[in-house]
Formats: sequence, structure tokens, C-alpha cells
Amino acid sequence: MSGAARKSTGFRTQQDETLGGKQKGSVDIYIVKRLFAYIRPFKGLIAGAVALTAGGAMLGPLRPWLTKIAIDEHISRGDHQGLAVISLIMLVVVILDGLKQYQATWLTGLIGQKAVFNLRMDIFRHLQRLPIRYFDRNPVGRLITRTTNDVEALDEMLSSGLITIVGDILQLVFIVVMMFLIDWRLTFIVLSVLPLMVWATISFKNRVRQAFLDVRTHLARLNSFFQEHITGMKIVQLFGREESEFRRHAEINADHRDANIRTVFYFSIYYPLIEFLSSLTAGLVVWYSATRVLKADLTVGVVVSFVQYIWLFFRPLQHLSDRFNILQTAVTSSDRIFRLLEEPVDPEPPESAGKGITVFKDRIVFNDVSFAYDGDNWVLRDISFEIRAGHTVAIVGATGSGKTTLINILSRFYPVRKGSVTIDGTELADIPGHALRRLIGVVMQDVVLFAGTVRENLCFGDPSIPDERIREAARTVGADRFIDKLPGGYDYRIRENGSGLSVGQKQLIAFVRALLYNPDILVLDEATSSVDTETESLIEEATDRLMKHRTSIIIAHRLSTIQHADMIIVLHKGTIRETGTHQELLARRGLYHKLYLLQHPERSRMENS
Ligand SMILES: Nc1ncnc2c1ncn2[C@@H]1O[C@H](COP(=O)(O)OP(=O)(O)OP(=O)(O)O)[C@@H](O)[C@H]1O
Ligand SMILES: [Mg+2]
Repeated sequence: MSGAARKSTGFRTQQDETLGGKQKGSVDIYIVKRLFAYIRPFKGLIAGAVALTAGGAMLGPLRPWLTKIAIDEHISRGDHQGLAVISLIMLVVVILDGLKQYQATWLTGLIGQKAVFNLRMDIFRHLQRLPIRYFDRNPVGRLITRTTNDVEALDEMLSSGLITIVGDILQLVFIVVMMFLIDWRLTFIVLSVLPLMVWATISFKNRVRQAFLDVRTHLARLNSFFQEHITGMKIVQLFGREESEFRRHAEINADHRDANIRTVFYFSIYYPLIEFLSSLTAGLVVWYSATRVLKADLTVGVVVSFVQYIWLFFRPLQHLSDRFNILQTAVTSSDRIFRLLEEPVDPEPPESAGKGITVFKDRIVFNDVSFAYDGDNWVLRDISFEIRAGHTVAIVGATGSGKTTLINILSRFYPVRKGSVTIDGTELADIPGHALRRLIGVVMQDVVLFAGTVRENLCFGDPSIPDERIREAARTVGADRFIDKLPGGYDYRIRENGSGLSVGQKQLIAFVRALLYNPDILVLDEATSSVDTETESLIEEATDRLMKHRTSIIIAHRLSTIQHADMIIVLHKGTIRETGTHQELLARRGLYHKLYLLQHPERSRMENS
């Protein structure tokens, strides 16, 4: 697709899975703001979690200090009673610490789940509103990654990242304060290792961040690949492409693995390094203390408490870098989620415009309509025609001539690029969405069925339709015969995509669905796939019944179905070649005549003889 085309349709092709060229800093602030909107409703919970975490942060640093007292003031003096008291206090501190951890984990988890629930709702609502052309450009697998992995990354941040960071930082501050209070010189020794630690952490963070970005990108690709190949497994097997597709999968899978291995590699270096630095510091402290203890300048309790503090001190530091990763991943994920949420939806026309249209009374007018899906690849050119209320209009033409496209425009799945379409004098664009959907019912070329019972699929437009009406509609269309034979009848569970039903059966279900929806204007995009003769006559009959007493537009591949149409439009490469009734068009001996003879070879022989 050309750059100009991208501009004209206003869509990004989201090929860039990473933060790309955006300025990092501004992105982060923006994302934090948007994220904040999702956690704001849980202010109370957050305040509680923060209070607990902050209050609980000093519990940990108390323990080494209590140890010091126990050693210096009780053990060394053989004071059993005092030791018992201190032990009791320590027990209380440990229990409180545990309680705090339980409460904080629970609260942050709760906040995360609630916020993520709302986020998912917003994503789905937005996906439902997005214009169909957005889905042309974005593979399903990628969108699925948005709603699963990316949302999970956010969940992880909310549940275990954000608030815990506050706790970790506070704990660090408390530890340093306590250490200073006990012995400032030893504290300096501990802190002297800090620059090394910070350097290790920062360089680790930078490397692992890039690796995580790669992991995400490859994961999205892997998901897309899986999605495509699971849906298309039949084709893969039919064409014997198992081996080559397996190799393609191996490549994508290997990229994903390698990116992951890189993160594992950085972690496997980082943690031991931190452990080493902690031990080194502990060693330094003990070594330096030894002479002072001998000179009775320092007590054993202080040394023991410092060794404990060192472990306590380095743990939150490690956590911090962990949390940082969670944050980093979440920021990339949020960036992508919010980009999706910002994808523009088509503006809904002002309520005043086209308000009157609740029933279709007069005519649909296509006036010089031209259309291209992208750029200047015009698929339809200067299309003008009129459909009167109550008439049946048929559209015929070779494959790819633009028949479905015409319907896509009338259903407003895509906006008109040039010219205008009006229904009863109102511009298509000015008709409110719900009114338009009530007016026009479409039976699409490829029938879409959802996992659920036959009944649920039949009354998809309105689940409150009573059973009798469903059965009656099924009878009208002639679908009752096969539905009754299904195990469970109307309660038969259709599998995803209607696999397990024949093409004809799916078509019939779509017909009943349209009949129940009862639109003023019925559009029927006939399936191209051939069905057996029995089903064909069944579908033909059903089509007749469906179109009776209403305005219908039918895209017909079998010309036999449309001989009684009030007008037939013959499309050729995106332009109207001929219009007229069946008889008129045959008499013209033009394109329609040719198409007709192709389908009715016996007539061709008759005419030649
Ligand atoms: N979503 C799309 N994005 C870009 N081009 C498209 C899209 N859908 C269809 N086209 C192109 O528009 C042209 C007309 O397609 P259309 O689906 O309208 O044909 P059709 O007349 O319905 O054919 P058929 O009889 O096979 O159903 C084709 O050249 C096709 O490649
Ligand atoms: Mg089509």
C-alpha cells in the first residue's frame, strides 16, 4: 500500500509492534495518565494498599535491630527473661509482617483484576465500533495478542508492580536510617557497593528491556501464525504444505525462543552478580568489624544485625529491577492497547439528521459512486442506479467485478469515496447507525455462525424472539427439515464457525436469521460455492420466500434465480455495463446474454441451430 493511500484512509498499518519512532519520555507520561484513568475508580482500595505497604515497610528493618538487642543486651548477659520478651516482640513483628503481606497482595490483586476487567470491556466495545476496514489491515492474531498478552502484562503491573515499588523504596529508606542509627561507619561500607549495584542494574535493565520488546513482537507474530494456520489447517493439509509450513513455524518459533533466551541470559547473569555483591559487602563488613570488636569498639550484635541488613537491603534492590521490567513490559503493552483504543471510529451522524428514517418508503439512489479500498485502485467507477421500494433488483457480473463491494458500501462498512448514496433522500452517511441496521438486512456471501445453539444463531439479532416465530420462519424458508433432524433440533450446539454443518445448511440458517430480523431492505449476497441440486432448489425456493413483499437486492450467481427481478444490473470490472429486465437484457444480446448462455448451454445450441 502506498503512503498516500495510508493517509487517505487515516489508518496506521500497525506493522510497528514496538515503540518505534515515538519519543520515549512523552509516551510514558501519556500512558501513565491513561492508565491512571483505569485505577482511579479504586482510589479507596489503592489508598488502603499503599497505607499497608508503607506501614508494613518498617516491619522488616525492625528485625535485625531486635536481633542486635537480643544478642548484645540479653544473650551476652545471660538474661533469659529479657530474651523471652524480645523473642515475643520478634514473633509479633513477623506475624504482622505476614499479615501485611497477605493483605497487600490481596488488595493489589483486586485492584489489578478490577481495572483489567474494565480495560477488556473497553477494548471489546471499541473493537465492535471500529470500521470494518480496520480489520482488513490488522491480522486477527495481532488483535488477539492485544486482548490477551498485552492486557495480562498490564494486570501484572497493577497487581504486583506499581504499589510494591512504593513499598520497596520505603523499605530501603528505613533500612538505611536504621543502619545509620546503629553504626554510621559500617553503613558507609554497605553504601560503598551501591554505585556498582546501580551500574549493574541499569545496564541489565537496558539490555533486558530490548529483549522483552523483541519477545513481545515475536509473540504477536507467533500468535498470528497459529491463528491463521489453525483456521486454515484444511488447506495446509490439502496442499500437503505441512513440511514447509512447519519450517516457517520453526523460524518464527526460533525467533521467539532466542529473544526469550536473551532475557533468561541477562537474568542469569544479573542475579548471581547481585548475590556476589551482597556477599562481598557482608564479607567487607565482617572483616572491618573484626578489629573493632576485638578492641571492644563494636558489639557482636551490631555485626550480626548488619549482615542481616545487607541481605535485607539488596533484596528490595533486586525487586526494584524486577518491578522495573514489569513496568517496562506494561508500558509497551499499554502503548499498543491505547493505540488500539485510539483508532478512530467513524463519526456517528448528528441525531437530527436522517432521524425520520424508520421505514423505507421510496427509493435508494446511487449517484455516480466510485470506490477504492485503498489508494487509487478503483474497484467501482461512476455507478448510478435507483432501487424503488418493493422492487427486486439483481446484480450480476463476473467474480471480482465489485458486487460485494457495492453491498459493502450500502451497508456502510466502507465510506463512499466519490458520489453519493441516498435512502429516501437522506445521505447514507447521515443515517444513524441503529436506524440503518434496522433498514437493511444482509445475508452475506460467507455465512458467519457463532458457537452456540441453532436457536441462538437464528435469533442473533434479537434473542427475545419467541420459539413459535423461530419455527415458523424456519418452515417458511424450508430449514425446518434439516434442523429437526439434528440431534437436539433447535438446541443442537453449533461449533465455532459452523463447522459440522453443510454449506447449504449454513446458508439456510442465515436465511432464517434474516427473515426473523425482518428488515425493510433485504440484501442477499449469494454464496458462490456450488451445492447439490436438491439443496440448490431448496435455497432457490427459500430465496423467493425471503424476498417476497419487500425490497430486495440479490447478488446472483445462478441466473435462474433472478428471471423475475424488476431490474438486473450487469457489472463489469467495476462499471455498470447493462441494466434491464431478464427479457430486455437477453434481447440486447450483450454481456448478460453471454453469461446466460454460459449457464444454459442448451439454449446456446437452440439459438445456433
Ligand atoms: N477488503 C478489501 N480490500 C481491498 N480490496 C478488496 C477488498 N475486498 C475486495 N477487494 C477487491 O475489490 C474487487 C471487487 O471485489 P468484490 O468482492 O466486490 O467482488 P465480487 O463481484 O463480489 O466477486 P465474487 O463474485 O467473487 O463475490 C476485487 O478486485 C477485490 O480484489
Ligand atoms: Mg462477492
